[in-house]
Order: sequence, then C-alpha cells, then structure tokens
Amino acid sequence: MSLRSLFTTGLLAAGALAAPPGYGNTVTVTVTEKASCSASASPTSHSTSTSTSHSSSTSEGHGYTHSPWHYPSHSSSSTKTSTTSKASTSVSSASKTSATSTASPTSKSSATSSATSKASSVTSSVVSVTTTTSSLASTAATTTILATATATNYGLNDAAKAAGKLWFGTALDVPGTGEAQDPYYIAEFDNIHDFGEATPANIMKYEFTEPEAGVFDYTGAEEFFTAAAGKAVRCHNLIWANELPTFITNPTVNWTNATLTAALRRHVTTLVEHFGNRCYSWDVVNEAFSDSPAGAYAANIWYDTIGPAYVVEAFQAASDAVRANGLATKLYYNDYNIEFLGNKSYAAQALVKDLQNRNIQIDGVGLESHFIAGETPSKAAQQANMEAFTALGVDVVVTELDVRLNLPPTVATEAQQVVDYYNTVAACVAVPRCVGIVVWDFDDTYSWIPGTFPGQGYGDLFLQPNGANTPLVRKAPYDGCLEALTGAPEAL
Ligand code: XIL
Repeated sequence: MSLRSLFTTGLLAAGALAAPPGYGNTVTVTVTEKASCSASASPTSHSTSTSTSHSSSTSEGHGYTHSPWHYPSHSSSSTKTSTTSKASTSVSSASKTSATSTASPTSKSSATSSATSKASSVTSSVVSVTTTTSSLASTAATTTILATATATNYGLNDAAKAAGKLWFGTALDVPGTGEAQDPYYIAEFDNIHDFGEATPANIMKYEFTEPEAGVFDYTGAEEFFTAAAGKAVRCHNLIWANELPTFITNPTVNWTNATLTAALRRHVTTLVEHFGNRCYSWDVVNEAFSDSPAGAYAANIWYDTIGPAYVVEAFQAASDAVRANGLATKLYYNDYNIEFLGNKSYAAQALVKDLQNRNIQIDGVGLESHFIAGETPSKAAQQANMEAFTALGVDVVVTELDVRLNLPPTVATEAQQVVDYYNTVAACVAVPRCVGIVVWDFDDTYSWIPGTFPGQGYGDLFLQPNGANTPLVRKAPYDGCLEALTGAPEAL
C-alpha cells in the first residue's frame, strides 16, 4: 500500500492534525482507522454543511468567489499564524519506520512507483505524531505522517519538468509577514525540487507598487525577487479591483474616463518596463469577469469609470511596453471560475480573440483553480477548457491552485481532495500548452483560505503539526500531484 493510500484510508490521516483555524478549541482530530474518524471528526457543533461560498454565489461557480466575503488585508497573516498555532499537537517520537519501504507501492504502475520512491527515498523516517486534545482527550489517538519535506530530493518541480512543463511553483506572501520569518517554511520554499516558480501573493499589487500617484515603491518587490532567486517569477498583478491604493479608491476623487485611463496606463507601463524580463509573465488584468451573470464584466472602479475598454487599455499598454523594449515577458489574463467551459470561460476566450484581432499581445490565460473538495471540475472538463484556450494560440497556466475543505476534514473529504488535486494537475499534464502549475501557497499555516472562507481550510500541500516555526510535513495531496505529474493513474 502506498503512503498516499495509507493517508486516504485513514491510517495516516495527516489532515486531522491541523487545528482548523478559527475553532474555539484546540481539538485536532486524529484517527488510526476509518471507523474512529467519524466519531472524532466532530469535536464541536461546527456546521458540517457544505460550502456556503459556492451555493451563495452563482450557478456556474465551482470554488472561489468574492461574494459574500471581502479579502482580508495583507497584514492579516499574523492572525492566521496565531490561530493556527492553537494546535496542541506534538511530535512525540520518531519511529524509524522506513519511509521507503512504506512508500513502495505494489499496486501501482511503474511510473508511480518510480516517482514515489524517488520522492521518498531520502525521506529518512516517518514521524509519529500524537495529538492531544484538551477538551476531548479521550478521543486523542496516534497517527503517522510523512517526514519533513525538506529531505525530498525529487519533487513536484522535478516531475513537472520531466512532464514537459516549465515548472511547478507556488505563491508566497513575502516580505513582511510571519512566513517570511519562518525558517521551516522558507526552507521548503527554497527546495527547488518542489518549487521552480514563485508568484508574489500580494507585494506587486497596485497598492504596494504605486502607493501614491506616480510614486512607485519597489522595495517589497525587490525583497521578493531576492527570496525567489533561482526561480521563475510570475508577476502578479497589474490591474485588479482589489488591493488598490487610496489615491485610486478615494471617493472624493472624481475620476473620468480619461484621467483613470491615464493612471492605468502609467501603472502598467512603468511596472512592465521596470521589472522587464525578471518577470516571466505578468497577470495584466485580474478577474475582470463577473460570476453573476457569468461572463459579464464585473463592476469595479475600472469598469464603472472606463467601461470594458479598461481591459483593452491595460493590455495595450503592457503590449506596447513589451514590444518597445524587446522584452520576453508573457502577458496573461487571469481569473477564477474559468477552469471549465461555461459563460465565464467563453468571455475570457472572447477577450483573447478580441485582443488578438487588435494586434495586442496576449500570451496566455491563468486558470486560478481555487477549488472546493468535491466541487471541482473533472479532469476531462478541465482539459477540454484548457484546450479551448490553447486552440486560440495562447498558453494556459494553473495559477492559484488550492482545494479547500469544509472543516473539520473527514477521511472522505481528504480523499476527495487528493482526487481533485490530481485531476487539475493531470489535466495540465495532458495539454501541451498548459505550461505550468502554481499552488496558492503550500502550507496550511499561511494559507489565505481560513481568513477568506470561514469554516473552510486545510487546502494546501503541507502542514505544520506544531504550528508556525516548526517542521513541515507533506500531506496526501502532494502525492496526488506527484502521481499526476508522472502520468500515473489516480489510485482512488
Ligand atoms: C489574495 C491573497 O492571497 C491574500 O493574502 C489577499 O488578502 C487577497 O488576495 N485571486 C487572486 C489573488 O488573483 O491575488 C488573491 O490573493 C486570491 C484570489
């Protein structure tokens, strides 16, 4: 039985280790066998109803939606850290069970066996983690999880490149946050075997790069590039509705079409020229389309003031800057709920064609892929959607992948999460012009999910059983991604 199988059968339910941020207690659910999970997985009266985010938004949404939540501020990371660190888990012992022998899948294809054993061959041990709950001590149990990821010498990025992709990457929210100071988190980010690309989760957004009109601040972005040395960087993003400086959003400013267009063009041109080829790509316009009705332009200050032409203006300015300076920087449109065929995806396809007809550069479409376990489009649906874009002559990238769960996790939802990660990665593998996969952070401790989607979490590939500033462990979806990258069939 593979390690991942052990996870998903509940024997290794690492998912149960994370204290769901926001819970009023420190219960962490651990199971040693499937039967005990359902009993221990309901430590509180916390609702187990399915995603309100999905059901409250649109008929087409599969995952991430703005409504009804607003983004937390950039500075919310410390809050996330402290809630997560409520976990009262402790690594009690390091059993010297051989990860290699445990990981040797006998029921899988040779591709899987090969990749999995490569990934685990230097993983020296499986650690036994005992979680003790203060309020439900009687349900405490022992579970076993993979050893630290930093020992891995063949990982997601290696496998992605072997599959013909440019990289497997991650977003991260540095500098100026708790994770930037977490040596265990940074060590895993630095692991080039897993991450060959980095996306700034916040620091290149408008409010940080142009905090005052015409006054550009590259300090944080430069720190990000330093942290990401040796990796490709997808620069994110130029024009979006959120994280705007007050000089743009100030309601007392009476923007006109002409004055706001000029501001937009100045921002786009200046950043594209300033960072030049250090940006593998820019997400030029982010999330221009609405979920309701799907595919209409979303109302925001840009659209409300300039109309749909703001998207064209942004791409025109970026295209002009790239061409005038002979840059290799790729220009992307990036959005969510365009990961499957439907009106929003069709709107993005129409945008690509419109820009092409205007001889404006557009190189690719970013498929954010913020999914909810069990509500994720199938591999076939994602592949068909990717192919609809690539048929237009542009690349696609899975730009912000995460698969969140309704808390608390169960054996069933954890298993579903593995399938969902697998399907997205496998769809990309199947499409030659899907050039890379990026997760929207890799460690539950610092995920944006709990702060944005109350009651949901546990969406990333790693966790820190003992909270911030302690070793990371791989979760089952990591292995689901690795299997997809090696072309192995999904085992579930
Ligand atoms: C998110 C960040 O992760 C958060 O820290 C911030 O508070 C809000 O923005 N789609 C995007 C990203 O394109 O820029 C968003 O990032 C997540 C959704």
